[in-house]
Order: sequence, then structure tokens, then C-alpha cells
Amino acid sequence: MEKQTTVKIGVNAATGRMGQQITNEIVVSGPAQLSAAFCRSGHPYFEKVVRGSGTVLYTNDLNAGLKASGVMIDFSLPTVSLALLDQALQMKTPLLIGTTGFSEEQLQRINQAAQSIPILLAPNTSIGVNAALSLLAKATKLLGKQADIEIIEAHHKHKLDSPSGTALKMGEVICEQTNTQLAERAVYQRSASKAGRTDNEIGFSVVRGGSIVGDHKVMFALENEIISIEHKATSRQCFAEGAVKAAIWLSSQLNGLYSMQDFLAD
Ligand SMILES: NC(=O)c1ccc[n+]([C@@H]2O[C@H](COP(=O)([O-])OP(=O)(O)OC[C@H]3O[C@@H](n4cnc5c(N)ncnc54)[C@H](OP(=O)(O)O)[C@@H]3O)[C@@H](O)[C@H]2O)c1
Repeated sequence: MEKQTTVKIGVNAATGRMGQQITNEIVVSGPAQLSAAFCRSGHPYFEKVVRGSGTVLYTNDLNAGLKASGVMIDFSLPTVSLALLDQALQMKTPLLIGTTGFSEEQLQRINQAAQSIPILLAPNTSIGVNAALSLLAKATKLLGKQADIEIIEAHHKHKLDSPSGTALKMGEVICEQTNTQLAERAVYQRSASKAGRTDNEIGFSVVRGGSIVGDHKVMFALENEIISIEHKATSRQCFAEGAVKAAIWLSSQLNGLYSMQDFLAD
């Protein structure tokens, strides 16, 4: 019988909300082992043992951590992700990036880096959201021409970027199916306009408050009926589980830029 090798996973920003959920998921996940957990030197966890890991310490030694890891998971901030990307390129370590809010220029850098290492870029690592994206593609084929499409998302009050990366991804999926450009269709605020809604637009609405983990709804509004595709994350664990499974898959892929859809389709 073929012996399953344990994949060594390092976690960037391991003290963040997602970072903690992911380190926890790795220490309980069978085919993966925690190899590094990065945090800032001023953090109270610095140089303490990661709970459940046995001996892994929170560290800021990127090079040693990358060297020890078969793949890295990063949920942080765009600038922090790009600093890690530069180091990962040097060490040839595959990188799963769950951070959101990248500019076009930053996305181009990630795209270019994927020529030299495997990178999976996922604004949402939940299996359920990625299933919802497939349903959305199908709904757009059926309704995209007749319906008014609106995307509504809600997150906790600490979230920095808006609309969420997932809401934007939903907009992109709709545009891919209709051969249109999101930049030409997206409407992010209506308060300054006194004009009515045009047929082509995709409106985005954003709610921020409390501890909402992540809700997304795409509404296809017709004259006498509404069809909605909706996903609600009730715990961050759905993102952590998906991220760890996808990172294990990424560790054995060739150089290139991958999405969660590539992982799920394999
Ligand atoms: N792909 C998905 O499925 C998914 C799901 C949820 C969230 N996200 C995204 O993941 C990202 C993180 O979300 P979160 O809720 O975990 O945020 P968070 O709790 O605010 O965590 C941010 C992390 O980044 C670290 N950090 C901030 N500035 C830094 C710097 N200059 N140098 C090094 N580390 C720095 C923080 O360190 P300290 O602990 O020291 O402050 C913390 O560990 C966001 O972009 C969010 O939108 C993606």
C-alpha cells in the first residue's frame, strides 16, 4: 500500500483570527503537520509554543520557517502577503493566499510570481462558497440577460476591505458567463446619483457589524419573482478546513496560479 506522506504547512500571521483557526485546524488534521507559525515580535505569543503543536514556536524567522515548510498559508494583509511572497519565491515554497483586498498591480505581481512557484489565490476557501460560485455560473446562464443582479454581503466590524473579495469574485463569475467586464458593470454606491437603475449594472451592498463571519447573497430580480443564491458562514472553521485541504493539494502541484475551483475539480 502507498504510504501517505505528511505535508508540512507553515502559517503566516498565525495570531490573526484566521491564522489561529488555521493553526488549530492543522494540528488536528491527519495528513498535515504544522511546521512554522509566523507572528510579529511584539505579539504576546512571540516565541511561545503554538497550542496543540507540541514544539512549534511562534516566530518571525521567515527563511527558517519557509525552509521547513512544504507549503505556506497566508491570511493577513495585502502588503504582508507580498512581503511573504518575495521570500517564498526565494525559497521556492508553494503559497496559498487567502488574503483579500489586493490592487490590480498587486494581483499582477502574484500572477507573475506564479511562473516560479505554485500559488493558490482564494478570496474564499470555504467549500460551500465555491459550490455557490458554480451554482451562480449556472444561474447566470439561465437568467443573466433578463434579471437585475444585485450582490449583498455582510461581515464583522473589523473587516478592512469592501466589498469583500468573495462578493467581487461573484461579480467576476457573472461577467465571465456574459462576456462582460466587471469594471464596466459594478455600481458600488448610489447615493450620489438621482438616475434609475440601468439593466446592465451589478449593484454591490455592504453591511459591517458585530461578529458576522461572512454572508453573501446574489439576487436575480425579475418583474414578478426573485431568485437568490445565498451562503452564510456560521464559523471561520469552514474557511480553515478548505484552506488546509487546498494547501495539501497545492504542495504537490507544478508552478502556476490556481483557484479553489482547480482544487475542487481535481
Ligand atoms: N479566503 C478566505 O476564505 C478568507 C476568510 C476570512 C478572511 N479572509 C481574509 O484574510 C485576511 C485576514 O483576516 P483576519 O480576519 O484573520 O484578520 P486579522 O484577525 O486582523 O489578522 C490579521 C493578521 O495580520 C497580521 N499583521 C497585520 N499587520 C502586520 C504586519 N505589518 N506585519 C506582519 N503581520 C501583520 C496581524 O498580526 P497581529 O496579530 O500581530 O496584529 C494578524 O495576525 C483578510 O484579508 C480577510 O479578508 C479570507
